[in-house]
Amino acid sequence: MDKKIDKIKKYIKYFHIKTSDDLNSFRGKLLGKKKGIITILFKELKDISIYKRKNYGIIINELKKEVQKKIFHYKSKNNIQNEKILKYDPTIPGKSIELGSIHPLSIMKNRIIDIFLKIGFTYVDGPEIEDDWHNFTALNIPIYHPSRDMQDTFFLYKNPDILLRTHTSSIQIRYMKKYSPPFRVLSIGKVYRNETISSHSNFMFHQAEGFYIDKKVSFSDLKQTVHYLITSLFGKAKIRFRPSYFPFTEPSAEVDISYNNKWLEIMGCGMIDPEVLKNVNIDPEIYYGFAFGLGIERLTLMIYHMKDIRIYFDNDIRFLKQFKYEF
Ligand code: PHE
Repeated sequence: MDKKIDKIKKYIKYFHIKTSDDLNSFRGKLLGKKKGIITILFKELKDISIYKRKNYGIIINELKKEVQKKIFHYKSKNNIQNEKILKYDPTIPGKSIELGSIHPLSIMKNRIIDIFLKIGFTYVDGPEIEDDWHNFTALNIPIYHPSRDMQDTFFLYKNPDILLRTHTSSIQIRYMKKYSPPFRVLSIGKVYRNETISSHSNFMFHQAEGFYIDKKVSFSDLKQTVHYLITSLFGKAKIRFRPSYFPFTEPSAEVDISYNNKWLEIMGCGMIDPEVLKNVNIDPEIYYGFAFGLGIERLTLMIYHMKDIRIYFDNDIRFLKQFKYEF
């Protein structure tokens, strides 16, 4: 074996490439796909005892590099480009690059942001991985509340509890802790629940969260803001407020919209509970606030007259390309 390698080394060293024919035969003889000497050596590696194999592998690789170096040297001296480039045919029509389109949920997100920026809201983002305090405790969700059950929440760690946020209300806490009122804030993002309001997509959906805190904020401000959002999106629409319960708002309500002669629930809302304000060091004797949270998927279904929430995540380009964002 060693003798053979020495012979090949010498052959490589003393071979003189003068023409491109020389180049081809040199390359063919050593690196040819079937009969190249080095190619065959590589194939024979598997028959060599395992102790020697690694060493021989290195030696053969070096031979191969020597050959390539020599070829490269000849090519660059003679200004020969790579064959692949030589085969390039400029008359072939180019490949067109497909332009993407904006996902309907992103379009909806942008529309809602536009609507709220017009009335002085600030847009913020928050983390999808949350801790217990921001997602539950600070929002006045007691230990025994069903939304803390393992069934509803995706926990990443236990003790201390780290989880995928189950709602965007955790953003209220993050923002209120950091800034002092008055403020108007909007945030939109993914939330994760084991069972969602929709039976179609059962682990994640998008939520928009809005909240407004100032000295004189009342339920009628909340109603008007919700009305403004819905009419901006749908034009004329019938909505109703239905009394409800959330641990972090008091009073609380759910908003339904009349769609195809049925009432469909689209959001939860209410006046921020004084306990929540206390948790973030805002004096509830001075400040009042409202908050709302709405699901984006369902709203988008209604606006585009779609039937099935799964269609958002099928990634069918024919479906996705139909949507345009009007600025
Ligand atoms: N966080 C609530 C939910 O996900 C919605 C909500 C937000 C309700 C803000 C009231 C105020 O169901």
